Amino acid sequence: MSKCKMFTCHDERSPSSKTWCVAHELWYVKLCRETKRSQTKRAPVKYKEIRIKKEKKSYNTLAKAKVRSLIGTLVAKHFGEVAHQLRILFLPGEENLETQTYYDLGACPKNMVGLERETKEFESLQAKRVGYHLLNTDVLEFTQHMAEQPFQVISLDLMGELGTYHDLLQKLVANGFVADNCVVYLNLQGASRRPETIAVLNGLDVSTVEKRAKVFHDLLTKNLTGFKIQTSFQLAYDDSNLMVGLLMFMKRTEDAVTEETTFLELSDPEPASEDRMPEAQAYDFIRRNRGLSSYTVAKTIGRRPASARAMMAWVSRGY
Ligand SMILES: C[S@@+](CC[C@H](N)C(=O)[O-])C[C@H]1O[C@@H](n2cnc3c(N)ncnc32)[C@H](O)[C@@H]1O
Repeated sequence: MSKCKMFTCHDERSPSSKTWCVAHELWYVKLCRETKRSQTKRAPVKYKEIRIKKEKKSYNTLAKAKVRSLIGTLVAKHFGEVAHQLRILFLPGEENLETQTYYDLGACPKNMVGLERETKEFESLQAKRVGYHLLNTDVLEFTQHMAEQPFQVISLDLMGELGTYHDLLQKLVANGFVADNCVVYLNLQGASRRPETIAVLNGLDVSTVEKRAKVFHDLLTKNLTGFKIQTSFQLAYDDSNLMVGLLMFMKRTEDAVTEETTFLELSDPEPASEDRMPEAQAYDFIRRNRGLSSYTVAKTIGRRPASARAMMAWVSRGY
């Protein structure tokens, strides 16, 4: 699938048509010269931006598997005996991997609600006849009205950024989605690419992965009136450590409950070098053409400086 956009560029050091110049989360982007060589030299050179959708990401990874297993452990610990009665709200994803976690505990499909906002993924899940209630809707849409009944498990492995979802937990509580005892998992992107995320993170020290996880935890759980967090896992994972997850057991109570927090840095092995080729070329392009430091490259592409340095070292060895 590809999408084209025209734009004009005066930069003499613009990339050759073979260079993939930007690796976005969902797209590889390259510039192709539009203006023919025979045209007047003074005319601005026109480039066409070509976007190619990246291969679909699989969630069958070590880090995701670890998170699914942690969710299962926390649910078993708090609801083991009544698992068949649990109301579960979750984002199954096209591969439907998380579902097994709940079935292993004895959960009933009729008590489970899966949301999928992407039509293609939704249709693919529908074709699998998953058995639980499946809705083609966005979390924000589904949770904007009062819940019919609260959920004891809410697992939202979102693909969005902190800026969009920083008050989601407060909304879930206010609209009656959170049961008196509830296992909640929220997963968000820690990249600060979008203005709304930059605004939320502005002035906060998120210099290390651990600090970022702590900042996310504090932002997501602030103003939770009537609830205490009993156990929480702050998870930072993915090969780039851009994803930050918060898994916790919340309890409605007036008493102070001491929170036990565990910080876990999870990671998946780097994908095979061939898969990372376009991304490596993107780093290379930015480094050569703009002369930027690894720190700036990392910021531009939304990766950690260490990851950018590693990638650039790899690039300089000729991939
Ligand atoms: C990361 S996957 C879930 C993977 C699953 N937790 C697992 O471990 O296998 C998230 C899925 O939810 C969908 N999704 C992401 N954000 C959403 C939102 N705000 N509302 C509804 N669906 C969303 C995505 O399209 C994707 O299919």
